Amino acid sequence: MSATLQLQTLGKQLGSPSGSWLFRDISASIQEPAIVSILGKSGQGKSTLLRILGRLTAQDQGMVLLDGKEMEQWAPEHWRMRISYVSQAPVMLPGTVEDNLRAASTLHQRPFDRQQARLWMEQIGLEQLDWGKQAEQLSGGEKQRLSLVRTLLLLPAVLLLDEVTSSLDGYSKLATQNLLADLHAHRGTTILWVTHDLEEARTTSSRVWFMAEGQLLEDQESHTFFSAPATEQARLYLKSQTAAEPRDEGETP
Ligand SMILES: Nc1ncnc2c1ncn2[C@@H]1O[C@H](COP(=O)(O)OP(=O)(O)O)[C@@H](O)[C@H]1O
Ligand SMILES: [Mg+2]
Repeated sequence: MSATLQLQTLGKQLGSPSGSWLFRDISASIQEPAIVSILGKSGQGKSTLLRILGRLTAQDQGMVLLDGKEMEQWAPEHWRMRISYVSQAPVMLPGTVEDNLRAASTLHQRPFDRQQARLWMEQIGLEQLDWGKQAEQLSGGEKQRLSLVRTLLLLPAVLLLDEVTSSLDGYSKLATQNLLADLHAHRGTTILWVTHDLEEARTTSSRVWFMAEGQLLEDQESHTFFSAPATEQARLYLKSQTAAEPRDEGETP
């Protein structure tokens, strides 16, 4: 279930159609399953880029191709099943934990794979969670992981993850990272994730996309990016982030 993804001269304007560019001319290609960390300071457009790829926001320039086919040629619901976005601020669907887990199968009229749901809930550290509990009553970290499992049950080939581990405690963060690495290794899932945790980026990703100055300034193998960044901007970014670490804020209520 692996996918190919091409970004061709993607751009987004602020206050489109006539505003300045948040970013432009972003071109990149993923031909093999990969884990890509998208790094850059706040306000560079990382979330906006993910939302464009998830077809939740329209670009102002360029195009995206999934499996060689342009975004506009896909039915939106088919696109979003194949390349799915998980937001930094998880939104629970009304009802119980189980209602949330069943959402993908209900939406797509497929049988609910209870065993798979249970396995992923276990792997992500939510094995104790009562499926009859109202989803709204969960803690921030529980909601974040439930929204991830809910999305995984769509069986997407590409996962777009926006700072999904930033509100998690150390144990839950590690469980989430391990689950994602496992999906990548065994299902060929491509993962594009935005993170501010350099250790997480270093240990999990094969590539880094570094955004600065309205561009994709570096698209590098992860090891190369961290050991020998090509640009002064990336060197400064790595230095400032390293100075800011460690920052483990624990789970938000
Ligand atoms: N459609 C839009 N119109 C105007 N401003 C936008 C739009 N989309 C994003 N922005 C602005 O662009 C900036 C970067 O957004 P974001 O993608 O959230 O960056 P990052 O995730 O890198 O922090 C923010 O200041 C945001 O308010
Ligand atoms: Mg963001």
